[in-house]
Amino acid sequence: MESVKKVDPTVIVIFGITGDLAWRKLVPAIYNLYLDNWIPENFAIIGIGHNDQKVNEVRDHLRKGVDKFSRRGKSQKKEWDDFVGCVTYYKGEFTDTTTYNNVEKEIKQLEKKWKTSANRILYLAVPPNFFEQIATMVGNSRIAQNKKTTRIVIEKPFGHDLDSAKKLNALLHNLFDENQIYRIDHYLGKETVQNILAFRFANALFEPIWNRNYIEHVQITVSEQLGVENRGNYYETAGALRDMIQNHILQLLCLIAMEPPTSFNADEVRNRKVDVLNALRKFTSEDVHACAVRGQYGEGWIQGKKVKGYRQEPDVNNNSAKETFAAVKFLIDTWRWQGVPFYVRTGKRLNETISVITIQFRPVPHQSFPSEATGNWQPNRLVLNIQPAMSIRLLFQAKQPGLEMLLHPVDMLFNYNASYTSGTPEAYETLLLDIIRGDSTLFMRADQIEAAWGILTPIINIWDTHPSVNFPNYAAGMQGPEDAEALIAKDGHNWIVIPPKTE
Ligand code: BG6
Repeated sequence: MESVKKVDPTVIVIFGITGDLAWRKLVPAIYNLYLDNWIPENFAIIGIGHNDQKVNEVRDHLRKGVDKFSRRGKSQKKEWDDFVGCVTYYKGEFTDTTTYNNVEKEIKQLEKKWKTSANRILYLAVPPNFFEQIATMVGNSRIAQNKKTTRIVIEKPFGHDLDSAKKLNALLHNLFDENQIYRIDHYLGKETVQNILAFRFANALFEPIWNRNYIEHVQITVSEQLGVENRGNYYETAGALRDMIQNHILQLLCLIAMEPPTSFNADEVRNRKVDVLNALRKFTSEDVHACAVRGQYGEGWIQGKKVKGYRQEPDVNNNSAKETFAAVKFLIDTWRWQGVPFYVRTGKRLNETISVITIQFRPVPHQSFPSEATGNWQPNRLVLNIQPAMSIRLLFQAKQPGLEMLLHPVDMLFNYNASYTSGTPEAYETLLLDIIRGDSTLFMRADQIEAAWGILTPIINIWDTHPSVNFPNYAAGMQGPEDAEALIAKDGHNWIVIPPKTE
């Protein structure tokens, strides 16, 4: 085995280790880091949960999660057995100081055995109603005494609106320094998302045309075939705007629109991103009707199977007014982007699962070809496929081979899978390693979270207080409500759907 890469001794305390997030994402990610030699010899996971289970039962359950969700597929017995020794489990109430005392005792024993102090990562893999309680208890306990070695990780949703996000930030800032707080937006850990920075700022070619002079508009689509599954309770309090646009999609927009950072220092990158959020044009109540569209799925067909409507899903009110689709037109008031619309849309139970960013360039200023040549003419487009296809495509016009001059769109393609043979790490692998190494570039800072909530507040207020009268307004398996087409059509554009190429 390759020797272990340089990582400090670390203890990860996972609050909620028997829950879904730890099972599907966290433990498979840590296990892959282990297989890739990122896990130091002095490493432990202390799991806390409500369930009355023996440590071996918890370990077996975690292994099933790895077998099911790891990008490497089923675990090998020997490797798993070598790894799992580092996992311990305590049944404990999050409200009980004994829980925190036990954790502290366990960490102290490990540090004694290792003859060194360890980084302490406190991972809140729990529903949001526990965030404040656990953060307060752990922050006031001996576990978090050393600010240099303690980090706290908070999952989304970070707040429910601007006020609750500010309240949670204030509570955390009373207990931890900002640089100890890792607010997760898992989209930022995706390879293709990180590559937006490389694409823009490691190439001299694109930056000079990356502005209003050359770009007509930008589209971001994050569409899912999945419905709300077993998350009805959560989704009834969230909806598509809070669940996807406030975090993932606004972050994608920031990466496309940000100014070049002077360095890859965590704060420098985050400063440039928050500049974009601060420059987004504020919506008035009238703008909300013109710039934001919502939808909810009714029953329909997905991949040949009949599926329920949202209101028939478990734990969903059968009169629910929650949106499962949202589309918004943003404008950015800067020199670079003045007048360039950024259209974003996301939804559940749509016709396909795809996350894609399309940059539509302006048409050529003068069309010198005869009209017979240009029947198929299209402006240049740059398509950044985030998932499931992972590629970058530049579409341009070429002469179709033949005796006549006929123009036809063709493309240049960079495909991750064809270009790289090594496996692509999952977002959580990247993010967990960054937390272990203390790099917060890919995490949300307090001001970013608040700015993102702030910009959406007018939409949230109107949607929360004025239930839509026409829900459900799209059938499962369709592209979303007609209003979403109208949102973009009234500016003379349409949603661009270019099937991803794999070769
Ligand atoms: C989560 C949302 O943050 O992101 C889910 O809560 C959504 O509703 C998920 O399905 C999408 O993530 P991914 O990585 O599958 O695109």
